[in-house]
Amino acid sequence: MKSIFSFFPVLLFLTGCSGGAAEKPAPYQDPSRPIEERVEDALSRMTLEEKVAVLHAQSKFSSAGVPRLGIPEVWCTDGPHGIRPEVLWDEWDQAGWTNDSCTAFPALTCLAATWNPRMSALYGKSIGEEARYREKDVLLGPGVNIYRTPLNGRNFEYMGEDPYLASRMVVPYVQEVQKNGVAACVKHFALNNQETRRMSVDVVVDDRALYEIYLPAFKAAVKEGGAWAVMGAYNKYKGQHCCHNEYLLNRILKGEWAFDGVVISDWGGVHDTEESIENGLDLEFGTWTDGLRAGTRNAYDNYYLAQPYLERLRTGEADVKTLDDKVRRVLRLIFRTAMNTQKPFGSLNSPEHLAAARRIAGEGMVLLKNDGGVLPLDASSTKRLLVVGENAVKMMTVGGGSSSLKVRHECTPLEGLRAAAEAAGCEVVFERGYVGDPTGSYNGVNTGQDLSETRSAEQLIADAVAAAEQADAVIFVGGLNKSDFQDCEGADRKQYGLPYAQDRVIEALAAANPRLTVVLVSGNAVAMPWLDRVPAVLEAWFSGSEAGNALADVVFGQVNPSGKLPFTFPVRLEDNGAHALGEFPGGDSVRYNESIFVGYRWHDTKAIKPLFAFGHGLSYTSFAYSNLRLSSEKLSQGGSLTLGVDITNTGDRAGAEVVQLYIGDDESLCMRPVKELKGFEKVLLEPGETQRVEFEITPEALSYYDDTKGRWVAEAGLFTAYVSAASDDIRLTGHFTLK
Ligand code: GLC
Repeated sequence: MKSIFSFFPVLLFLTGCSGGAAEKPAPYQDPSRPIEERVEDALSRMTLEEKVAVLHAQSKFSSAGVPRLGIPEVWCTDGPHGIRPEVLWDEWDQAGWTNDSCTAFPALTCLAATWNPRMSALYGKSIGEEARYREKDVLLGPGVNIYRTPLNGRNFEYMGEDPYLASRMVVPYVQEVQKNGVAACVKHFALNNQETRRMSVDVVVDDRALYEIYLPAFKAAVKEGGAWAVMGAYNKYKGQHCCHNEYLLNRILKGEWAFDGVVISDWGGVHDTEESIENGLDLEFGTWTDGLRAGTRNAYDNYYLAQPYLERLRTGEADVKTLDDKVRRVLRLIFRTAMNTQKPFGSLNSPEHLAAARRIAGEGMVLLKNDGGVLPLDASSTKRLLVVGENAVKMMTVGGGSSSLKVRHECTPLEGLRAAAEAAGCEVVFERGYVGDPTGSYNGVNTGQDLSETRSAEQLIADAVAAAEQADAVIFVGGLNKSDFQDCEGADRKQYGLPYAQDRVIEALAAANPRLTVVLVSGNAVAMPWLDRVPAVLEAWFSGSEAGNALADVVFGQVNPSGKLPFTFPVRLEDNGAHALGEFPGGDSVRYNESIFVGYRWHDTKAIKPLFAFGHGLSYTSFAYSNLRLSSEKLSQGGSLTLGVDITNTGDRAGAEVVQLYIGDDESLCMRPVKELKGFEKVLLEPGETQRVEFEITPEALSYYDDTKGRWVAEAGLFTAYVSAASDDIRLTGHFTLK
């Protein structure tokens, strides 16, 4: 006899009955329950095999869930600048999807150069929405490794040389990404400051430099940003690989900082089962690859945290307590992301994201030099504009390593300049000037550009010079690119100077036409032997899908540049601390002998004039600083004092200025830099407008890491506050004592 419900399935549906009372969801399935309760409930239901399975990859970019319990997999994606196109299950090569083009946001050096945490928030929100839409649970970014040397191939992916700037700029990015239910995975923890021998080099650095320079941005990302994931670096520290490192992961990250998230290995960064069990690794990816090329196919069961771990658990060699801590972290990640039912739905390639990319790029570009007001160009009174250089036409969103992208469209500098100029009646002509890297593909993504060239280098220069003599203004667009030994993962630069003999082209153009602007598309400092013969220089960075439009906005004055350098441009490589005193790239180990004297800290202390200083950036208007006031001349331990200063726009157009506060310890018992960045505020001012900016100064801002005591110390004595427009452009000073 069939039940009544067999005739009336709709009844069954409406009453919710399915052969018995409606089942209540188990706690781990119930989104109304606290995450920690769900973690414990899920953990209690998992078998040993299921626990081990969630601790390592099952494919190139995913790790297993618990199918039996309906706990989903974890899907990761590169990278810090945009959502990487889909690759094959077990290959780096393209999966050939047609729905995975993305918005390329500016490189993180450009974001840092905005010195505007609101831009970080906009960036994190936008890229987080794209990751969410692509249904990714972990974004493998941002990167915050400190800029130690101008030769590091991956500096373009990071936020510069100063720990305070990187700390302030990384927090909003992490917070906004994670509001999408996508984990930010801050990388590469830690001391990954070069690409040479990156998989094995043992970094030797003193505790002061570790705590004062190389860790702060990671600490801010974890403790203020609330990062749900951290990626271990490839290199070693104290002889242990950073992906399973007792000091960095157990003592500092999970101990001192109480990190409750997941430590994910870099791809191929795991080398030992015992260490990966005991030294803080939670999720193993990419083993047997070098992070860029193929490894052992389908080796997942043989991963260090796979069968070998299971065997040690079965023999009792490994304890379940350590296992459960790892599994809790992975479950917590899953409940925060894949099983988070509150997360928004994201969006991809939206006009809002393109607008965000353009705005961040325009605000990050740095006007390094502008003698005689060559910029902004007035397109309506410029009859013919000559644009020279391969970087005016070469797509930069493809290449560079794991941050390489497949964009729907990339507006190149020439395209953007031409669109804006011709709209104002200005003719734009182009000359190649030089040949750099005419190839255009990475990991199976092809730019489709034909950059082939038959003319000789001499002919290219001759043609560019001839055109320059006929032009009202000339813009040379050069710099570096995303090819090997340039701004690219996996190798470091071989020279500090511009590649492809660009210096010769620039010299020739400068001789042919005085109204020359050099635009650098790059992620690193470069030498400029031609600087005194070129009136205007603009650092345009790798600025993503809207690069050309953002460049045109600045060149033609729709945007008044307000970017400031996030790292120093030394005149010569030897003027950089790592090259003067430290080792680079070292051998099996690399000694950071320069210690805390990184970037401007070295230049200040050794009185070495930089080509362009950390924090330097010009505007189309000008600013005056006045009326510095300290709320007190005496600061007590546990107290604070306020420093106020007026900033006035003394020019004839609106503009934004970054007021920078550096502080120096004038009576220090130990070695300290002359001054260190301890505050900054970007203010937008109308012509003639004055705003007052205030900074709160606490003993914490005055402290250094006392490696004899293992803690931060602010020593009593005299301090100087330097209110500056750049690290080498001090406008006002104030003095106070710490009691
Ligand atoms: C790469 C990079 C890392 C990236 C990962 C996955 O080698 O070091 O930044 O997220 O592997 O592509």
